[in-house]
Parts: sequence; structure tokens; C-alpha cells
Amino acid sequence: MNKRLSVRDIRKFKFTMSKQKPLVSLVCYTAQMARLINNIVDIILVGDSMGMTIYGHENTLLVTPQMMINHGKAVVSSTSRPHIVVDLPFGSYEESPEKAFRTASRIMKHTGAQSVKLEGGKEFAETIYFLSQRGVPVMGHIGLMPQRIQTLGGFITQGKTQEASKQVIEDAKAIIDAGVFSMVIEAVPEETSNIITKNSEIPTIGIGAGRTCDGQILVAHDILGLYGDFTPKFVKKYAEIDKKITDAVTQYADDVRNKKFPTKNNIFKASI
Ligand code: KIV
Repeated sequence: MNKRLSVRDIRKFKFTMSKQKPLVSLVCYTAQMARLINNIVDIILVGDSMGMTIYGHENTLLVTPQMMINHGKAVVSSTSRPHIVVDLPFGSYEESPEKAFRTASRIMKHTGAQSVKLEGGKEFAETIYFLSQRGVPVMGHIGLMPQRIQTLGGFITQGKTQEASKQVIEDAKAIIDAGVFSMVIEAVPEETSNIITKNSEIPTIGIGAGRTCDGQILVAHDILGLYGDFTPKFVKKYAEIDKKITDAVTQYADDVRNKKFPTKNNIFKASI
């Protein structure tokens, strides 16, 4: 059994392997998927995007800590090598550092995950410092923050103007100083994430943030073609599993309706 990657190992990527081999991260939520990718990826994020991909919600806001615990536990217990990060869902940490600690420690205790991720820039520096000083490793998430969908009005690229880019860079600096061990940068121009990556001592993990981040992250459902509702520009689809599923189920339905299934190979016979 391989040793699980720790926060220390992830930080080390910045100075050792990142130039040749960027960190490979994937968002996944189930035991079955986690088992399949255990020996392939470095980091699994049990993301609150599950609200949309698994539960069919319009956005991530309805996800609860208990949902994160159920899925986090399934992923941790089905893997041995990747570092597992679990998202703090909307409404479970914003109020105060103490509330964030209660949610984060509950999630870590009940899932066995090594760290948590929270969305936010300088306004969450105090919370990140509070958590990381108390044994909760925090992965940051800046740029497009899907939990702010209602105030943003949509999944909109961030940091496009000079002023907006400056703000994203300031957010990065604030959360690094507060103690994040790595950070996701979502949907910002490559120029912006490049400045952050060059000036940070922790690994940056990009999703729609260009080619120069220390690692990349995508949602497993997106790259496998399992989430047809919407595919962002930054996603590369590596398979069309949804089509394979509908084809297979159509064949099964035809077989049943045409009495081609079950065959004699699929039935039991009495022994007397
Ligand atoms: O929940 C999620 O899938 C995420 C990724 C977009 C990084 O936070």
C-alpha cells in the first residue's frame, strides 16, 4: 500500500517536482470513482460541486456538511495514496473563525480527510489563520468562487480587468500569509494566475487558470462526459461515458422487450 500524500508532500511539490510534473488533482465524490483513480492522481477534492453533478441542483449552495461527510468518508475509505481535501460548504464557515473550526473539525473527524478547502480571499484571512493554527490544514480557493453565484449573477471569469486582477492577486497574498498550504485558482486569465504562481511559496492549482499553475484540477464528471448540463471552456472531455450509459441501457431495454434477455445463461435451474 502506498503512503498517503500529506500536506507537507503537497507543499514540497512547489520546489521539487512541479516544474517537470505538475500536481494532478481531480474532483470526485464516490467510493467507486475514488478506487479507480487512487493510483493515478495526487489530490482528490471532494468538492461541493456534487450538489450539481450528483444531486442535480442548480448550484452548490444547497450542499450541507453532512453531505460532505457522507461522500468524504466514502472517498477516504476507498483510497490509500492521494491527499484528500473536503470542501466546507456554503453557510458552514463564513460567520466566524470558531464556526469554521467547528465545521472543519467535524468534517475531518468523521471523514478522515487530511485537509479542508474554503472559498474566499482577504476577508477569510483571519479564519484561515485560526484554522491552520489549530491543526486544520486549509486549501484556499480564489478567483471564481461558485458559492458567490447569487452575488456574481453567474459563473463568470474573474480578474479580467487590471483592477480585478489586482484584487485576485491581493486575495492570493492574503490567504498565503494566513497559512493556506495550497490554493485553487478558478477561472482567471493566465496572466493573473502566472503572477500568483511565480510569487507564491505554496502550490497553485488551476481550473481555468492557464498553463503555468503548479497543478491542475478538473471535475471527474466533466472530463468523463458524465455531466451534460454545461461544459465550461476550460474543461477537456476525455470520454463520453453518458453516451455509453444510454446506449447500454437502450440495448438492455430492447433485449427485455424483445425477450432476448434473460437467456438460458442467466437463469437458475432447480437441482431436483
Ligand atoms: O467543488 C468543486 O468541484 C471545486 C472545484 C471547482 C475546484 O471546488
